[in-house]
Amino acid sequence: MKFQTVCFILVTTGFAAAHDNFAFPDGFLLGAATASYQIEGGWDADGKGVNIWDTLTHERPFLVADRSTGDVADDSYNLYMEDVKLLKNMGAQVYRFSISWARILPEGHDNKINQAGIDYYNKLINALLENGIEPIVSIYHWDLPQKLQDLGGWPNRELAIYTENYARVLFKNFGDRVKLWITFNEPLIFMGGYTSDKGMAPSINTPGIGDYLTSRTVLIAHANIYHMYEREFKQQQKGKIGITLLSFWCEPLTPDYTEACERYQQFQLGIYAHPIFTEQGDYPSVVIERVDANSKAEGFTTSRLPKLTSEEVNYIKGTYDFFGMNFYTAYVGLNGVVGGIPSRERDMGTIVLQDPNWPVSASSWLRVVPWAFRKQLNWIAKEYGNPPIFVTENGFSDYGGLNDTNRVLYYTEYMKEMLKAIHIDGVNVVGYTAWSLIDNFEWLQGYTEKFGVYEVNFNDPSRPRTPKESAKVLTEIFNTRKIPDRFLD
Ligand SMILES: *[C@@H]1O[C@H](CO)[C@@H](O)[C@H](O)[C@H]1NC(C)=O
Repeated sequence: MKFQTVCFILVTTGFAAAHDNFAFPDGFLLGAATASYQIEGGWDADGKGVNIWDTLTHERPFLVADRSTGDVADDSYNLYMEDVKLLKNMGAQVYRFSISWARILPEGHDNKINQAGIDYYNKLINALLENGIEPIVSIYHWDLPQKLQDLGGWPNRELAIYTENYARVLFKNFGDRVKLWITFNEPLIFMGGYTSDKGMAPSINTPGIGDYLTSRTVLIAHANIYHMYEREFKQQQKGKIGITLLSFWCEPLTPDYTEACERYQQFQLGIYAHPIFTEQGDYPSVVIERVDANSKAEGFTTSRLPKLTSEEVNYIKGTYDFFGMNFYTAYVGLNGVVGGIPSRERDMGTIVLQDPNWPVSASSWLRVVPWAFRKQLNWIAKEYGNPPIFVTENGFSDYGGLNDTNRVLYYTEYMKEMLKAIHIDGVNVVGYTAWSLIDNFEWLQGYTEKFGVYEVNFNDPSRPRTPKESAKVLTEIFNTRKIPDRFLD
């Protein structure tokens, strides 16, 4: 009898546990994300300066799929209260948005502050807090002031100091209310702005050189901001600082290609994460060795990878309170030499492709691979000593429409894998913001690819927002704090 009772208890708690596995832990933060250039509009409003995306879209419109711009975008510069209402209605606890550097410092430098820009973000931050939504602020999400690009942009290491000065203005003005800060969003992608004259802003063709120079400036800038906050603000403001890094799962085509995928991780993620999140610090050794060797073979006297001094290595190491993770999709990896001479692709020596059986999205690079999310979370936890991970982006693109069944499936399946990583594998995930709150300007794809859970009508000057099915499901998830039973098999 006793034995049976014990068994019964075990069975019932076992059943409950299986369902608890699809519930969010206490304290886990849920919300949605956007970025300044993609939503704000107001490109020349009230003293804002020109940034590199204004320049690209105005001067080289042919680089954008539909020749569109972010001049108006979602008009969140005027309609930010609408966005706050959407978040409130969803039950979002956090909103991740970015600050437009040129709106605050029109010429990039801190000698000239645009008060209208400060006022705009004060209004947004205060409205969020009044509605019980905590702001998470990205300091840099790709919209570099043009004046700083005129000085060479990210390959110029003086930008590490200018970025620190810009961040100080933000901490001074907003740090009393903003407690979660992200220094950079996806340097892996914006370093690509220095690898091709057909790519992202500033669209400059210096592959294998400008991108590595960018990585050094970004790492030093990140560390400058982190240390400056510790020295000047942390004691009083008590905020947390992290960096948001994009990564992809790489599944070896066969076990023979395990190393090819490991290399891929180190060249894509490790180049930024290894210096910050490992005890050893510095660039991953495989990156240093391969870029040095290729540089030599290509006839360069000096390696194309600008080295970090041992002082810089120590200065950068450990400069984080959390790991911001953007995750969308996976690739299959194998050995192979691709990319021009020189290029980071060639240095990496890994070819990636996608399984044609994986469901597609509207984006050429994004297929639906939920199980890869759990694997990538585990890879990061293992490689970097299980840091607190904040999933700052995850989402799905389509061509529009309110009945976005595929997006609903994407969110629920990916969240289930994340919850397995948390409850079964012990990965320390602390929050999740869906990309994106509203349809917006998707960089070189313009408005052709939609990532929003709210639809925005870009033909209507008042830019009305309408919930898609996915907004309704996220609302349910944010309010019940679990994956609804109908999505569990
Ligand atoms: C949405 O689309 C799915 C399949 O694409 C369909 O089964 C469902 O009935 C649609 N729902 C609405 C409200 O139209």
